[in-house]
Amino acid sequence: MGLWQRFLGLFSQDIAMDLGTANTLLYTRDGGIVVNEPSVVALDAQTREVLAVGAEAKRARGRTPGRIRTVRPMKDGVVADFDVASLMVVSFIRKAIGRLGLVKPSMVICVPTGITQVEKKAVIDAALSAGAVKVSLIEEPMAAAIGAGLPVTEPKGSLVADIGGGTSEVAVITLSAVTVSQSLRVAGDRMNELVLRMLRDRYRLEVGENTAERIKIAVGSALPVPDLADIEVAGKDLVAGVPRTFTIKAEDVREALAEPVQEIAGAVMRTLERTPPELAADIYSSGFCLAGGGALLRGLADLLAERTRLRVFVAEDPLTAILRGTAKAMLDRKTYRDVFIA
Ligand SMILES: Nc1ncnc2c1ncn2[C@@H]1O[C@H](COP(=O)(O)OP(=O)(O)OP(=O)(O)O)[C@@H](O)[C@H]1O
Ligand SMILES: [Mg+2]
Repeated sequence: MGLWQRFLGLFSQDIAMDLGTANTLLYTRDGGIVVNEPSVVALDAQTREVLAVGAEAKRARGRTPGRIRTVRPMKDGVVADFDVASLMVVSFIRKAIGRLGLVKPSMVICVPTGITQVEKKAVIDAALSAGAVKVSLIEEPMAAAIGAGLPVTEPKGSLVADIGGGTSEVAVITLSAVTVSQSLRVAGDRMNELVLRMLRDRYRLEVGENTAERIKIAVGSALPVPDLADIEVAGKDLVAGVPRTFTIKAEDVREALAEPVQEIAGAVMRTLERTPPELAADIYSSGFCLAGGGALLRGLADLLAERTRLRVFVAEDPLTAILRGTAKAMLDRKTYRDVFIA
């Protein structure tokens, strides 16, 4: 990069960030999606020194010696450990734009709908302490809808469901605002937890969180899927107390996921019940959109279509849709001026 470009670059260091429970993504105008990493930090338990952040820290989860602790600073979509969240954001900003020079970035960050003032402040303060000078917020389902290309600024109802790691959020949007919404603290993390529990109860097999998630992604489903192969899993045999491999039936994983899947479907139904008729008519003709990593669960879109009798479509690349929507609002503040929240 030439000096002149670097000089110009100083003026376009605005950053869009999706600070998620499971994954954090950062976007810059010049670089696009420059960070896409798990929201995990590995720390020295005594000195609190950061040893690894992101994918490297997540890989170490469940494999660290006692001296090292892996922390997930976000829980249920909000900051749970302020100090560690700040350290994580600093590290990701550095990765996105290099060391902070004289010009500090202004940031647009998406947050769950209906979070408290205190929770909002924690996100803003974490970004400020990481070096941002100005922070604007946008609601996650709004960001998801923009990312999915829905007509959010028009007087037309759009329904989105963002199923993340910590929360599932369902929202009806019209004229740049969320008018009806439901937020559920049930999403991907809860699914992992239930897979873990099912393995313990039914197979007497103990695995770590990473393995439970891998199983969910490999064979998990919301509806029966013909020909879905079983999966070989290594873990600790709870009866013999030694390592062993087990063959896990896809059907058992589906059963374990039934409860959170039904809760998500329930949240969609409740949202529809509370939707004013004109907006409901719009949703009837356009269908609704799924985003977030949970949207990738096999059969979920079909199950929701069956339950609601609406057309359900999954946003393109649902794991990045929320960030891409946040970035779009950041880059076109004129069109999207009303989507930012105070
Ligand atoms: N193919 C898949 N099938 C099922 N679940 C998946 C799949 N891929 C990813 N996930 C799950 O999606 C979740 C992460 O999604 P996402 O990155 O949207 O969450 P997040 O934004 O970090 O969380 P939140 O929005 O709740 O703060 C994880 O629980 C992950 O296991
Ligand atoms: Mg999210």
